[in-house]
Amino acid sequence: MRLENDLLLRVAQGAEVERPPVWLMRQAGRILPEYRALRAKLSGFKELVETPALAAEVTLQPVDILGVDAAIIFSDILVIPEAMGLTYEMIEKKGPSFPKTIQSQKDIEDLIEGGDAASELTYVYDALALTKKELAGRVPLIGFAGAPWTIFAYMVEGGGSKTFSKARKMLFREPELAHALLEKITRTTIAYLKEKVKHGADLIQLFDSWAGILSPALYKEFAIPYLRQITEALREEETPVTVFAKDAWFALRELDALPCQVIGLDWTQNPADLRKLLQTDKAFQGNLDPCQLYAPGEKVAEATKKMLATFGKKHIANLGHGVYPDTPLEGVRAFIQTVQAHRY
Ligand code: CP3
Repeated sequence: MRLENDLLLRVAQGAEVERPPVWLMRQAGRILPEYRALRAKLSGFKELVETPALAAEVTLQPVDILGVDAAIIFSDILVIPEAMGLTYEMIEKKGPSFPKTIQSQKDIEDLIEGGDAASELTYVYDALALTKKELAGRVPLIGFAGAPWTIFAYMVEGGGSKTFSKARKMLFREPELAHALLEKITRTTIAYLKEKVKHGADLIQLFDSWAGILSPALYKEFAIPYLRQITEALREEETPVTVFAKDAWFALRELDALPCQVIGLDWTQNPADLRKLLQTDKAFQGNLDPCQLYAPGEKVAEATKKMLATFGKKHIANLGHGVYPDTPLEGVRAFIQTVQAHRY
């Protein structure tokens, strides 16, 4: 189906556009009163994720209510560990928790992996197909997955952590085990993302949320090769890929060398400097500090204009990480409207 608004895809494919497209990481979620109202009627987060009609409904909310230039399927990166055999719980006001974690070779051997694991996730594929139908070509639909290192971190650590020291410990003490687990996560993620494309994802984003806690050497050894496997496997699909490795300023050359079309930047990076340094043709995505949206609307507009000027062309406007749940809608709307009023 032809898209009415294909700005996102045109920028990802390197075409000239009249203005940058805009969407927000975590746009489908608690910033919207409509999301909170629906969520309050349910048993929890997982019911929303696992019921395609509900997941489709909240995916569409930011498109209908905020007018963003892309939808991102409502789901979570943690569906992958779950499909591999580690169920997660989403604990209110605390975050994810895994009752069972990966500690030994036996734990890794016991995992389901690849196509067998990916085929468990029919609720995600059904949600994509339904969303695609309800979008009726208005805007592109983004599918996503966690990068292998970030998924590994949750599977070994068992939940969120400031340091992920258990996960990092495995890289030093049992590097072969770590690679064996990363291989399994990667094979599963490739099968999963190919199904997502088949069911309507127009662009894929990989979230490496915990990239910044590895040294450059460890990131090169335990993260980049797996990102490479995924981006190479997705080449066959001709679906553009965004790699967002948070706080991985030290790995930008390696990320730029991947066969992906878009590089996501957090707010600590200067896009103008990077454009010169990397000499890259890839599009950049980002990178307003999510806290900027707590400022009054006029201040948000001012900061957004400044950001647009620093990026220049080949830019997908977004925040430098997910929007925080208590962000005032005034700030969110000022950000979106400022980008949409911009012309190159
Ligand atoms: O709008 C969107 O961007 C799509 C939905 C989306 C969610 N999670 C829904 C969600 C996406 C893209 C994710 C990705 C995700 N999940 C990441 C990578 C991006 C990032 O933020 O770095 C990570 C690390 C996770 C793991 C995760 N899920 C955590 C740590 C938490 C708890 C923190 C929190 O925000 O509550 C979640 C829960 C979660 N995932 C919520 C939503 C809307 C909140 C749950 C709720 O509604 O109560």
